[in-house]
Amino acid sequence: MRLPIVAGNWKLNGSRESVSSLAREITATPVADVEVIVCPVALHLSDVAAVVENTGVKLGAQNASAAESGAYTGEVSSTMLAEYGCTHVIIGHSERRSLFGDTEAACAQRHQAVLAAGLTPIFCVGESLEEREAGTTVDVVGRQLQAAFDLVGSDAFSNAVIAYEPVWAIGTGKTATPEQAQEIHEAIRGMVAANDAEAAQAVRILYGGSVNAGNADELFAKPDIDGGLIGGAALKSADFLAICQAAARQCKTA
Ligand code: PGA
Repeated sequence: MRLPIVAGNWKLNGSRESVSSLAREITATPVADVEVIVCPVALHLSDVAAVVENTGVKLGAQNASAAESGAYTGEVSSTMLAEYGCTHVIIGHSERRSLFGDTEAACAQRHQAVLAAGLTPIFCVGESLEEREAGTTVDVVGRQLQAAFDLVGSDAFSNAVIAYEPVWAIGTGKTATPEQAQEIHEAIRGMVAANDAEAAQAVRILYGGSVNAGNADELFAKPDIDGGLIGGAALKSADFLAICQAAARQCKTA
């Protein structure tokens, strides 16, 4: 059985005060049998770290540099993130890919750097609406994963988490149906298996894209969906905790 993960991607939101109280609300209700991760902006990590310390809730960053140190203005390295208590780093989110020019090769390099620092990447993949309509979803996702295999090797996802996030479902209120999501999750697990059968059984594959308290149960009930990467609904503690509870319920019945 894979321990489910629910990760909150807080994106570019909040103030020092508001993220601290959001973290306090989340840690006030421990959820058993789920790995809960919160990912504030880098500047808020130290405030949130102070709240989540020793609570079981883990801390993630939203991106990390491919470089360890040097002349890379504006970047933050995985080693620096680790110093602040981060255990996880979101890599290759579609907003990074589409708005900030993170290419497949760049995402693979960032992924490698996170692994090298001993942190766990949450490697995001997903297709645009045009790509889905053209029937190329599996090819697109396969290419995104392959970039990491090419650089890191067959064990690229042995110590990583994968998040499948159809771009057309992110922040739009349009969720993939559980069947649509399961189909791609199964394909992703197959791609990992083609490189490393053991890693494929162990790797947690999260679904992301308009997950909310109302649709989480049916998504998480699918055999290859091991939790969620949550955007909008992660900014309200009650909704986020309800999603965590859904993961705990569905994991027990899996
Ligand atoms: P959403 O975002 O839940 O607001 O759709 C998910 C994400 O971008 O990770």
